[in-house]
Amino acid sequence: MSAPRIGVIGGGQLARMMQPAAVNLGIELSVLVQSPNESAAQVIPNVMLGSHHEWSDVAKFASQCDVLTFDHEHVPLDFLVKLQESGIAVRPGPHALKFAQDKLEMRKKLSSIDIPCPTWQEIQSESDLQSFAQYVGYPLVLKTAKGGYDGKGVWVVDSELEAKNVFSEILTLGGKVLAEQLVSFTRELSAQVARSPHGQCVAYPIVQSTQTNGICHEVISPCPDLAEDRAIYAQEIALRIAKELDVVGMLAVELFDTGSEILVNELAMRPHNSGHWSMDGALTSQFENHLRAILDWPLGSPANTSKVTVMVNLLGKDVGNLHSAFRHVMARDPELKIHLYGKEIKPGRKIGHVNVSGDNIEDLLARAWHAADYITGVIDE
Ligand SMILES: Nc1ncnc2c1ncn2[C@@H]1O[C@H](COP(=O)(O)OP(=O)(O)O)[C@@H](O)[C@H]1O
Ligand SMILES: [Mg+2]
Repeated sequence: MSAPRIGVIGGGQLARMMQPAAVNLGIELSVLVQSPNESAAQVIPNVMLGSHHEWSDVAKFASQCDVLTFDHEHVPLDFLVKLQESGIAVRPGPHALKFAQDKLEMRKKLSSIDIPCPTWQEIQSESDLQSFAQYVGYPLVLKTAKGGYDGKGVWVVDSELEAKNVFSEILTLGGKVLAEQLVSFTRELSAQVARSPHGQCVAYPIVQSTQTNGICHEVISPCPDLAEDRAIYAQEIALRIAKELDVVGMLAVELFDTGSEILVNELAMRPHNSGHWSMDGALTSQFENHLRAILDWPLGSPANTSKVTVMVNLLGKDVGNLHSAFRHVMARDPELKIHLYGKEIKPGRKIGHVNVSGDNIEDLLARAWHAADYITGVIDE
């Protein structure tokens, strides 16, 4: 039997990192990208140029695939419904993906199935805003329901004036507005599970994830100092969401740990930055399990292969040639694993990550941060 043809919509680093897993499994990926320079287009031979906003491009791309999956959540849902009706396996399906595309839909759904969330409300008018602010107090959080990423589309507002300005800014852009209490979390966690169409699930260890200006920057797996019952509780939240929303593929559930509660921040239905550690620290990476899941193949073990793995993202600074740093960091730390995304360096942009595994968290953090800072030119020794 010939291998199923998998199409990935979107050419970012997540699609790129599916390719090594596909190579190992002997399956071919195709990718729909807007430009031939995109991260995934550099490594996946079957590239179609086109826009995920254009029905004709998406339909033509999908007609060459048996299974369709995603690097991002920005494909219009009505396209995906039409493709599904024409017999293409869309994984995750539009009925699930809508909860990752739209934070208001996500809050409504999770609240309806009693998953713990921050206090939230849809804001349709200034009086909605006033009553919500009276209830939770300032500062509070305003979000665009759709299209945000890496903290773009999230505002912490301190006063009524600021809130009104952000509210009208989002409305002007044509978006719906979600308001949330500002959660005073002690840290952020992430729960990742893979789920296949016939319902098999595996849960990765709960990780601690730290964001800088809304961008994921550091991940520790497994999460340090998390009691076993709370870790299992967090895994169960993710498993329940995967089942109730009928997610297929990888699901990431971003969580707030307040010390006493674990609340859901948001969902991603694809491989996620908080799972990059698994490329070097788990028996099966999130990219391999995403492919296995969307093909309805048995899932691989998500277990850690070391006591601890630390991941630090490489965020672009002003350095031109990342590879010139390799000689130094590789010689200094032969256990370090470096992943670059082939992306043009722009300040603050995710251009790669490093992983390092071992026993001692402090030592691993120091080594991963040294390498990340040296490669991005923050330090020079
Ligand atoms: N209700 C909240 N309370 C406190 N911090 C929040 C809240 N919502 C978001 N944040 C902070 O902003 C970051 C980005 O928000 P998120 O909704 O995950 O947006 P994005 O889609 O850009 O990842 C979160 O990781 C968290 O650090
Ligand atoms: Mg997020």
